[in-house]
Order: sequence, then structure tokens, then C-alpha cells
Amino acid sequence: MNTLTIKCTFFLLAAIAFLSPVKNVTAQRTRASFNNNWKFKLDSLNDYSKPSANTRGWRTLNVPHDWSIEFPFDSASPTGNGGGALRGGLGWYVKNFTVPLASKNKIVSIDFDGVYMNSEVWINGHWLGLRPYGFSSFRYDLTPWLKYGTENNVIAVKVDNSKQPNSRWYSGSGIYRNVWLVTTDKIYIDHWGTFITTPVVNKNSATVHIAANIRHADDPQKNVIVTNIIYNAAGREVARKTSNSISLKDTVSGVAHDLTVTAPSLWSDTNPYLYKVVTQVMSDGKLIDAYTTPMGIRSFVFDVNKGFLLNGKPVKINGVCDHHDLGCLGAAINTRALERQLEILKGMGCNGIRTSHNPPAPELLDLCDKMGFIVMDEAFDMWKKQKNKYDYHLVWDEWHQRDLEDLILRDRNHPSVFMWSIGNEILEQWDSSGITIAKELAGIVKALDTTRPITSALNDPQPGNKIYQSGALDLVGFNYHHQNFADFQKNFPGQKFIGTETVSALETRGHYDLIPSDSLRRWPERWDKPFNEGNKDLTVSAYDNVSAPWGSTHEETWKEMKKYNFLSGQYIWTGFDYIGEPTPYPWPARSSYFGIIDLAGFPKDVYYMYQSEWTNKNVLHLLPHWNWKQGDTVDVWAYYNNADEVELYLNGKSVGIKKKTGDDLHVMWRLPFEPGTLKAISRKNGGTVLTKEVTTAGPAYKIELTADRKIIASGGDDVSFVTVKVLDKNGNLVPDAANLVQFEVTNGGSIAGVDNGNETSMESFKDNKRKAFNGLCLAVIKAGSKKGNIVLKATAPGLQTAQVNIISK
Ligand code: GAL
Repeated sequence: MNTLTIKCTFFLLAAIAFLSPVKNVTAQRTRASFNNNWKFKLDSLNDYSKPSANTRGWRTLNVPHDWSIEFPFDSASPTGNGGGALRGGLGWYVKNFTVPLASKNKIVSIDFDGVYMNSEVWINGHWLGLRPYGFSSFRYDLTPWLKYGTENNVIAVKVDNSKQPNSRWYSGSGIYRNVWLVTTDKIYIDHWGTFITTPVVNKNSATVHIAANIRHADDPQKNVIVTNIIYNAAGREVARKTSNSISLKDTVSGVAHDLTVTAPSLWSDTNPYLYKVVTQVMSDGKLIDAYTTPMGIRSFVFDVNKGFLLNGKPVKINGVCDHHDLGCLGAAINTRALERQLEILKGMGCNGIRTSHNPPAPELLDLCDKMGFIVMDEAFDMWKKQKNKYDYHLVWDEWHQRDLEDLILRDRNHPSVFMWSIGNEILEQWDSSGITIAKELAGIVKALDTTRPITSALNDPQPGNKIYQSGALDLVGFNYHHQNFADFQKNFPGQKFIGTETVSALETRGHYDLIPSDSLRRWPERWDKPFNEGNKDLTVSAYDNVSAPWGSTHEETWKEMKKYNFLSGQYIWTGFDYIGEPTPYPWPARSSYFGIIDLAGFPKDVYYMYQSEWTNKNVLHLLPHWNWKQGDTVDVWAYYNNADEVELYLNGKSVGIKKKTGDDLHVMWRLPFEPGTLKAISRKNGGTVLTKEVTTAGPAYKIELTADRKIIASGGDDVSFVTVKVLDKNGNLVPDAANLVQFEVTNGGSIAGVDNGNETSMESFKDNKRKAFNGLCLAVIKAGSKKGNIVLKATAPGLQTAQVNIISK
């Protein structure tokens, strides 16, 4: 390069910098993935904290990583089947890395989004700290102990999940969330260093209050210039403010600006419009930091009579609770897997997520911001009183303040977060200590955020509850007790309601118990059938008629919830099945039956009840399948909407027209089984809205593969979810097919996990084969570093083979 080219390049770069400030300014700080090339070993006997520790022969892997999901299910696992019967243990992660010389005068920090649990971290033999709570995100400053240039640095992480049980559900083990290396100037926007609120929001304008904390480890006499810029979703600047002389006397100095956005596009669950705030810091004429905070502008209130109002309009919160595992991927966070879950939920009309019962992965909130979910962000499942021998109560005194503060600081800029939950089914609700602790926790939250209400999910929702009596809650959180919804205003005058947790119905996807031939005594099934008699194969019927005794069927709760405006909404237990807590069954059941969607991501029938109620799209769904024995009497249900009636035909003959009346959420025909085709037609004003057919399937004949995405990104953790169907010759799903399907992936792809949604399957999630369950199974395909055409081939003895191509880009 000659001088002229250098100059031209310089001017060109300067021009680009001037024209596109957002892109260029971010160069001042780097946030690089620190996920790759860790060495890993399970070893509870030796200490590997010293840089000289011998890690030869250890497994090399990339995090996020969950070692528990790799274990076989084991009835003797100390986690119990509440914990998914997968073992915990103690593991070490060690990573060697270099830091460029250019970083020498900078601050280098490591951010862990989450390590389950009791992590301790060492850099070059120096102990950085301990974090017991496996759901908290945390940072360590590495700067004082780093070596630069070609010299090697060693970071060691000890993860101790050996004391069991410590969770009521599957936790996973390891560095199961992302890790980042953050490099900044010595003067920089602090960790979680901005707080953006919108004190005034209306159609014409919004006031955006931006508070930033600037940390400095430099000359205390320095002055800096701080500018806040707001960009709209198209990347266009819409507001800016600068403070020209901020003196940095303290280690952390605060700067605040009020900016005005005219005619703001408001964030909502149906239009999740995102702005971006860039906070720039200049010193000695140089841009030394630029920090981006996503922002949504919205106003909301919980009203005593009208329920939840978003931007002035009533919106029912139709949400679900979910645990953090991602089925066969375990607890290891995968953004696409989370996005898929949210897409499936959106498809049902769901608009809310409760992060039960712990701080979520940051990516979940990013997705909820983008996709429009109303989030209840929850801190704890217990306080001082234990639910399990080794759970968080052991470290409560020392850690609860820090963990709660960190949750609020990390999450308070997310427009999707609408309420804080300080705890789930806390045992102190029956004890006067509940009053003191609730007040203390509310104080911690309010010191950091007064813009969102505080609630607690309580399973004894009566006015005498000590946690309600503390006066610390802004929203009365109800777990279950739908029978008391109607009297809420009478029992809690002047207070606001949120259904923090509801329903707890139970279903196995694709399994239906028919009317018992001996008597009609148990029909419709009672909640206690699986608890008392049970099915030998540990299934639960997928007609929505079985629930936990403390809950209800889906229909029972929704009928109450939709009746009253003052009920702001609910979070149903649960959106997806999760590993662990296989209520009502013992081993070998090992995952939950509560999901509206099974563990593999296949909707159970009741998904369509919600879809018919919560979306405007036309819905007509028939259940069950049509493969029964001659002489069986079968209840056929239809969920439908946008129609006046449904007519059902069996083998061409009408068996009657049904209409929902009163508060009905489905219609039903009781029919003697005869093989052939059931056909339903929904009609409005005499015209056909939708037609649906279910045909008796013949023997399993072929496999069908459907990839949810046919193009995925190479090199990272992108995945494609491939649904495997076992079909008969005519393409009908074989409803009881259990064929063992063998997978083969070529061209650089690999299998990240397999599943079939069966709550009792003892097969490994990490395998290249899976039995179908009620006709379906799933293979999750991951691209390698290679670009090209990945081919997934599925074979099963006696079945026609199938294959699907997935492009890795
Ligand atoms: C609730 C609890 C949840 C889950 C659920 C199962 O009482 O808050 O974590 O255990 O029951 O029905």
C-alpha cells in the first residue's frame, strides 16, 4: 500500500464512520464469544485450578455444555426423577488462550451468562470468585492477571453440582450458557451500565430517560463527553443528546439524559417494535466506548377493574410458564431452539412467558423483546426455607441480595419484562418471616427499578397469606385456585390480579383412554385416575380431562379467566414438557406431562383449543386418531372457531351437526368405531370454513422427514429440527407407530439430539437413532464448520427410507 492509498483508505473509512455511526462506533469495545475449545473433565478428586494442571487427554468441547444430558437415565441418580434421573457431579473446564498486545492498556473481563452450579473461577492460578446460584449471570475482571502477546493464559472453572437433590426439576450441569470476553478502554460504560425508562409515553411523543454509569480505572482528573443517540428499527437516528464535560472523579460516575422521540412506534405483543440506544463516550477527542441498549417504548398498567392495559388497550396475558431445558439439547442454551419454542407458542396465540422459577438465559429475553412476549421474570423458587436438602436456602443469607440485584440490573432494559416475581410458592407464605423477607426483597427491587410491579407466585392465595400481608406486592399472584377467581375483587378489594401459575393438566401426546367398557363411573376421567389407578404404560390420556389435584383441566381455568376483565391473565403450567417432575408417575417416568407441547416440540391436542381461542386464524382440529378396535366407543372432539357449527361424517355419512353453546370450548360426538374416514366440516353462514379428515391408518410403510429450516448457518450452533413421521402407504400417520428409526448425517452435519416426546423413554437424547412414539420422533441437526449440503437419511427395517437436504451456509 503506498501513502496515497493509505490516505484514501483513511478518508474513505472516516467518511463511512461519519455516515454510519452505529456500525463504526462499536469497534471501541469488543464482546467476543469465549465458547470454543474448552477442555473438560468430570473429576471430584483433584484440583485443576493451577495453570500447571495436567489436562492432557481431557475432552475438548465448546460451551454451552450440559454434561448431565449425556448420562443415561438412572433410577439411582441422587437427583431423583424429580431432577430427571440424570446425574449431577463435579466437573472442570480449562481453557488456554492468548490476549493480543493491543489489549494491554485495556480492561478485559469475562462474562458468564450462567454456570450450574457453585462455580469457582481461576485466571492464571488466581481465584476470581464463587457463584453458588446456577442461574445468575456474572462478570470477572481479568485485567490484573493477564499476560499479553504470545504468552499463554489459563482459565479454570470448577462446577460443583454434586450435592443432590438441589432442584425440583432438571437443572443440567456445567457451563450451560454463553461465555464472553469483553475488552474495553479503561474508561467504559459499566457492566449492565445503562438504565432506560420511558416516563412519558403517548401517541405524539415519548420521553426517554437514559441513565449511564461510566466506570474508569484511569486518571481521575479526566473529563469525557457523553452522547446518547436513539435509532429507530430502520437504523435512522431519531434523537440525540450530548453532555460535554463529565468529570470522572469517582470510580463510577452517572450521566443522565432525557430525549424525546416524536410519534413513537409503540412496543406491544403484536407489534414488538424495537429502538436502539447507543451511548458514546469520547475522551481527548477520541471515541473510547459505544454501548448499545435495545429499547422498546410502551406504557402499561395493571388496573383493578380492567386488568392489564398495554398502551392504553386491554390485553389479556395468555402466557405459559416454562423451565429452561430444551428437551434433547438439555440445559445447554441454544438460541434457535429457544426461538423455535417461542414460534410454536406464538402459533398458539400465546403472548407471555414466565421464567419459572429462576433468572433466564439473556437470549430468551432478547427473543421475547423481538417476538412480543409479556415476561414475568422470576428470581427464586425458595427463600430461607428449603424445598430440597441442598437447594438455594443454604446460601440464602449470603447471596440473595446480590443475586436479586444482578437479575434486575441485567434485565431491566428489556421491553418484554413487565413484572418481577420475587419467588414461587415460597414456604414463608405461612410464617411471619414471609412478611420481613418480602419487604426486604421488594426494597431491593424498587431501589433498582420502580417501573415494574412486583409479584410472588403463591399457592395459598387467600388474604391471610403472610407474603400478601407484607404489603410488598403490587400484584396478587395466584397459583391455581381458579374456583376463587370470580371472588377476587371481593376477597382482595382494591388489589390487582395476575394468574402467576395455572392449570397443571396432564397429557401424553397422541394417547387417548376410551370410555371404560365395564362402567361409566370414571368417565370423564377424574384428576386422580393416574394418581390412583394409573395406566400401566405410564401414559395420561390426551383428552383434556386429567389434571393435578391442585390444578384444573385447561378448559376449566380458561373458562373462568376469559369471563372477567379484572383478571389480567395467566401463565399456564406449562408451555412445553420439561425434563424431571413426572407427576403423577414414579420411575421410569422421567419428564413432565404438564406441557401443552411435548418435550420434542410436538403439540398435544389442547394446543388447538388455545389456538381457536387466542388467534384469529381459522382452526378446526379433530381428536383422537381413528385406529380403534371394532366395538370400541370413541368420543370424537373438535376444537374450532370462526364458524357457527361443525358437521362430522363417518365414511361419508353425517353423524350430526354440533355447535358450541354457553361457554363450551369444544364439541363432541360419541361414536361406535368403524374403520374408515372421519371428516369434519366447519361452516359459517352455510359456507365451508375448514375441512379436516382423519383416516384409519394401515400398516407402517414409509418415513417422512420435514425440516423446520432447510438453510442453516455453518460454524456456530445453528440447528434444524427435523420431524420424523411414520406413515402408511397412503400417507396417514400411523398413530401407534414405534419403529426404531436410524439416522445418518453426511457432509459435516451432526446430530445434536433426538427425542420423541415419550415421558418414559429410557433412550439417550444423544444418539443417532430413536424409536417413534405414537408415530413421531425428532432429530436435531447441527451444521459443522463446513458449508454445503447436509443430507439426513432416516431408515427403519421394513419402511421406505427418507432423506432431507439441509444447506449449511
Ligand atoms: C406448582 C409449582 C411448579 C410445579 C407445578 C406442578 O405448585 O410451582 O413448580 O411443581 O406445581 O403442578
